[in-house]
Amino acid sequence: MSAAPQDAPVSRRSFGASLLAWIDARFPLTSTFKKHASEYYAPKNFNVWYYFGAMALVALILQLVTGLFLAMHYKPSAAEAFASVEYIMRDVEWGWLIRYLHSTGASAFFVVVYLHMFRSLLYGSYRNPRELVWILGMLICLCLMAEAFFGYLLPWGNMSYWGAQVIVSLFGAIPGIGESLVEWIRGDYYISDSTLNRFFALHVVALPLALVFLVIVHILALHEVGSNNPDGIEIDDVKDTAGHPADGIPFHPYYTVKDLVSVIAFIAVLAAVVFFAPGMGGYFLESANFEPADPLRTPEHIAPVWYFTPFYAILRAVPDKLLGVLLMGAAVVAFLFLPWLDRSKVKSIRYRGWLYRGFLIAFATSFLALGYLGLQPATPAATNAARVFAVVYFSFFVLMPWYSRVDRTSAIPTRTTSAL
Ligand code: HEM
Repeated sequence: MSAAPQDAPVSRRSFGASLLAWIDARFPLTSTFKKHASEYYAPKNFNVWYYFGAMALVALILQLVTGLFLAMHYKPSAAEAFASVEYIMRDVEWGWLIRYLHSTGASAFFVVVYLHMFRSLLYGSYRNPRELVWILGMLICLCLMAEAFFGYLLPWGNMSYWGAQVIVSLFGAIPGIGESLVEWIRGDYYISDSTLNRFFALHVVALPLALVFLVIVHILALHEVGSNNPDGIEIDDVKDTAGHPADGIPFHPYYTVKDLVSVIAFIAVLAAVVFFAPGMGGYFLESANFEPADPLRTPEHIAPVWYFTPFYAILRAVPDKLLGVLLMGAAVVAFLFLPWLDRSKVKSIRYRGWLYRGFLIAFATSFLALGYLGLQPATPAATNAARVFAVVYFSFFVLMPWYSRVDRTSAIPTRTTSAL
């Protein structure tokens, strides 16, 4: 009548196993997990620079979740937007936390993504066979910029208003169609309720969808060709007796656990900023944005949020408006061409010579300097400095076919190394 005692665990196990078998017969769950995690072999020599991909994923999820809760209380109309954000901050339960997580999260996202991109410059991750991973990454970067720009108008503060006014009017520099294009983007003769409405739609629906789609495709493309590593060599070239890369380890559990550490560190730093300096002294939330939008009163000094200022400094450094807009665009788009500009025999900075290293250091310095100058008022001294740094910035790309070819490189190892 009663089942044998040893039957109980067997039946529990078999329920889980049979549920999985039922799902697997209808959906590739186990095989997808194996392909992308437990049997995806990643190089065993990843260092801290490889943390930022996982952190970017967490930043994206954080923005989607906090954005969803903000959208439940936010009112996308010129008459109510500013007050609805104040309402979120003061009256909605935990509203202040959700809003600060979203605004600080935006800056954190850019920090992480810029470092993630810099890692690719260090180790030549954009090179063959990862050109498509890189191009998809650049599309993500462009979408992220658009997402941040549209989102910045939503609180309808005075800097939101005038920032959008300055950037949207840049399209007016395009000969012939410029003015009509600006009107089409605004949906009005000035930045108005219609502009706010369409920016809201783009910010909460179109661009998040595009971002999620691009991130999935970015990772699928990466898993097709395999990850690069700090030595810039292909681990697939040397296989062990089981046919796996000799210098590879399964992504799960080794890197899921390792990435978890970075995610905890990321959340700790984010929490420190959110709880102790959510505005980051005006760098993450600008003071002019604590006042409602006023079409009749321009803020004393208009500057975008820090992650756009390197490009904004280039725009301001050029006297001609159209040329300024083109160079600002070129400063971002130039990254797309890196896979074809780099002619070095080696990928990783470890085996490159001092010529490439010098250009990379000069480039990183110019990026930071332009970022600083873009935050300052456009005095003649600041403008001249921005011109010098803009030349350094573009030299990195324009001269790359030359210096990457003549640079003295050292011999690359056949197996990965564990040096930092
Ligand atoms: C939402 C933004 C992004 C997310 C969530 C994301 C996610 C990831 C993840 C999880 C990886 C594998 C882990 C790693 O290598 O760190 C990766 C690799 C990579 N990503 Fe991204 N990424 C983003 C943006 C970008 C951008 C903007 C670029 C460049 C323009 C880029 C270029 C690359 C490259 C080249 C690799 C391969 C690196 C290697 O194997 O050395 N990613 N990404």
